[in-house]
Amino acid sequence: MILMAGDFTVGKNTFLLNGEPFIVKAAEVHYPRIPRPYWEHRIQMCKSLGMNTLCIYVFWNIHEPREGQFDFTGNSDVAEFCRLAQKNGMYVIVRPGPYVCAEWEMGGLPWWLLKKKDIRLREQDPYFMERVRIFEQKVGEQLAPLTIQNGGPIIMVQVENEYGSYGEDKAYISAIRDTLRKLWSQSDHSQSSIFNSQSENHCPVLFQCDWSSNFEKNGLDDLVWTMNFGTGANIDHEFARLKELRPDAPLMCSEFWSGWFDKWGANHETRPAKDMVEGMDEMLSKGISFSLYMTHGGTSFGHWAGANSPGFAPDVTSYDYDAPINEYGGTTDKFFQLRRMMQKHSKEPLPAVPAPPHVMISIPPFELTERADILLGADSLVMDSPLLTMEEMDQGWGSMLYITTLPEITSESVLTLNDCHDFAQVFVDTAYIGKIDRVRNEKSLRIPAVKKGQELKILVEAMGRINFGRAIKDYKGITESVTLTSEQDGHELSWNLKKWNIFTIPDNLATARKALDAAAADRGQVPVRNNSASMPDRNLSPVSPPLDPKGRLLPIGTQEPPMMFKGSGYYRGYFDLKKVGDTFLNMEAWGKGQVYINGHAIGRFWSIGPQQTLYVPGCWLKKGRNEVIVLDVVGPSLAAYAPSIMKNLKAQSKKTKKSPSSRIILRSALPLATEGTNPDRGQVPVRLQSGSEQSDRNLSPVRIHPVLFAQNHPELDKLNVEKSRTHNNPADCPNLTSLPSPLTSVFAPGNGWQTVRFNAPQIGRYVAIQALSSQDGKPEVSIAELYVRDADGNRLSRESWTVKYADSEDVRRGNFTGDKVFDLQESTYWRTAKGVALPHILVIDLGAPQVISALDYLPRVESGAPGSIKDFKIFVY
Ligand code: GLA
Ligand code: CA
Repeated sequence: MILMAGDFTVGKNTFLLNGEPFIVKAAEVHYPRIPRPYWEHRIQMCKSLGMNTLCIYVFWNIHEPREGQFDFTGNSDVAEFCRLAQKNGMYVIVRPGPYVCAEWEMGGLPWWLLKKKDIRLREQDPYFMERVRIFEQKVGEQLAPLTIQNGGPIIMVQVENEYGSYGEDKAYISAIRDTLRKLWSQSDHSQSSIFNSQSENHCPVLFQCDWSSNFEKNGLDDLVWTMNFGTGANIDHEFARLKELRPDAPLMCSEFWSGWFDKWGANHETRPAKDMVEGMDEMLSKGISFSLYMTHGGTSFGHWAGANSPGFAPDVTSYDYDAPINEYGGTTDKFFQLRRMMQKHSKEPLPAVPAPPHVMISIPPFELTERADILLGADSLVMDSPLLTMEEMDQGWGSMLYITTLPEITSESVLTLNDCHDFAQVFVDTAYIGKIDRVRNEKSLRIPAVKKGQELKILVEAMGRINFGRAIKDYKGITESVTLTSEQDGHELSWNLKKWNIFTIPDNLATARKALDAAAADRGQVPVRNNSASMPDRNLSPVSPPLDPKGRLLPIGTQEPPMMFKGSGYYRGYFDLKKVGDTFLNMEAWGKGQVYINGHAIGRFWSIGPQQTLYVPGCWLKKGRNEVIVLDVVGPSLAAYAPSIMKNLKAQSKKTKKSPSSRIILRSALPLATEGTNPDRGQVPVRLQSGSEQSDRNLSPVRIHPVLFAQNHPELDKLNVEKSRTHNNPADCPNLTSLPSPLTSVFAPGNGWQTVRFNAPQIGRYVAIQALSSQDGKPEVSIAELYVRDADGNRLSRESWTVKYADSEDVRRGNFTGDKVFDLQESTYWRTAKGVALPHILVIDLGAPQVISALDYLPRVESGAPGSIKDFKIFVY
């Protein structure tokens, strides 16, 4: 089908395509999350589901990586994506932000905006608005020629994104609308109109998307309003308010969430196919348009995955989303259930499901024989500087190394990083002290007594910038201060550490290659000495870095490669392929970092899971030799060396003519450097010892290397966290009888927000909600969101909230922990575990005492509000 110039407009209770009623059946897909060679396949997959439209965000930060440098080529060629859609008979909805959320680094905003320290993002800050205008103009140049009025596939354009969850600012939204309307109206092809009041009547339909609970805050009179909600939601309830306000408007769910995204350290998310299919069936039967978010999620390659807040919950690399088309473009059971239902609503038979562009392959284990210290990736340094953030050092992504000289502190002290963004590893000289992990809300660490002149070194790796809520202004590195506090003679002493040498270590291919090439060039020139005084966590080796006469680390370029972070570093290896295919690199035995294959940034890995494999598209592989580079900021674990060790053991046993079954003891498998050896290039000396002969004569050093392999299926659901994520430590449970008397009341049944007011304002740091009974009489209860209001009735910020205690949290069937009541998402909720009896209690720590006049409660958004509470008590203390 070839699409012709036409028009798409708003009629009474329906959209009109060339004057005829039209239901938008849109599939949300994100072009940077799909390798370009696969774009057309994924588009055809969506079409085979019966979709007639593709819904896309435009990601500002991939198109303007540096201020004023624009890129609309290769995988960022959004116009080509739209042309491919048109070629395949699909319309396109464009959502050009400027903010897009999308579990994408900073919600799509470019990091360099943060170089203006006082910038007000997504507000009428003059600099922000100027940059928005320039970016949107570039987008307009690419895409405005492709509107339906101009004979292209684009039918609708979105203004901002879910602004109701960010603020209330109609003036800002109006300014964005005006910018977009002007830039998208540069054609005189058509007479179509959205609303007659619009002056530029050849602009595509402009719309806003928000939640039913907040769309009125920023809803502009001359824009179409659409609602976002997820699988299982009560659809009539979601549109009830819109219908009241605009009885003639067409209805559209602009994001119907098919599944949900995964975060590092939390359970893999899924949503039932049945709920999704029934919801869409219901919408189609009622003539409601939709966009299925995601129809195909794809992958947040490289460093593009974002993070959520409050707290810090970085998203994994896979954006599979439990969508009907899986991460690698394949069909799922959900896909076929959806296709069957969509066929019911289509007069024509749905197009056949296209064949996948590649087969699935696995790759047997191969060694990564080259290694370079992470410091060889340093590309800039300031000396004797106050603390600087990564942005102040003009770096977008990667790591920072902060080094300072310590004063004498005769007893143990507490090191506090304000704030650590995001994952710090702390060393005193070469001794590894520990980590400070923002995901786990860690800020401090105990440091042993130190002598004057010893060096404190903090290696901070940044993860994705927060993409939702006010916390998107997410500076990286150490944002404010580093303090040491110790007690002496009953007094508290503290140091605010001021003079820093700061290195930047960018996360990009050129840096990784530079480091590995430098290490190769320097091979054989590295003096190493053993220091057995301290034993590091994992396999960071206690080896001294090159120091100047004062014992300070020498600046890059004037030194031999420093060996301080020995297990961490860049690793390189190669594998050969006879046949190319899609595959999944298994990173389980590795620590934390980033992978590049044949120059393509594949994405972040982290041993905590739940994602343990990285999707490697076959279109980025080749017959013959393929290059893999891994940056591991922590270092691979022993398991990564196991195949190499086994190989050496076999060789060793052959040499000593022992049968393989005779006992051989591995003296040290960790990459401990030994006097006189060169641990450069990942060639790790290991001593092997046969059990029967203990003398040193029989120890022969061998080289072992960490190993990688790839499998033909993903592993997205294997959690490996150190500590339980639940909050049921009995010591944290308040003794209710000793608390001030509670408010006792009853919630009404059904969906939607309810507010309970205290007779008089209460003061307290903790709010405990005790559920005595449920609406359905079952023991399980759920809460989707909670707010508390101050004395003036305004909702208090929840940024400092944490869960103090929850008697029960369902982590068996998903991520239903207590923090879900303040994660800003109405579709996520706290749920007690199956079978645990009433009453239930959830205690929130507000971070500081507050005056509270009321509490807002949102039950689950699904029809009938499952798990909603009836009788309850609220304690403030
Ligand atoms: C919102 C945003 C999307 C995405 C989803 C969650 O609806 O608009 O960009 O973040 O939440 O996946
Ligand atoms: Ca929630």
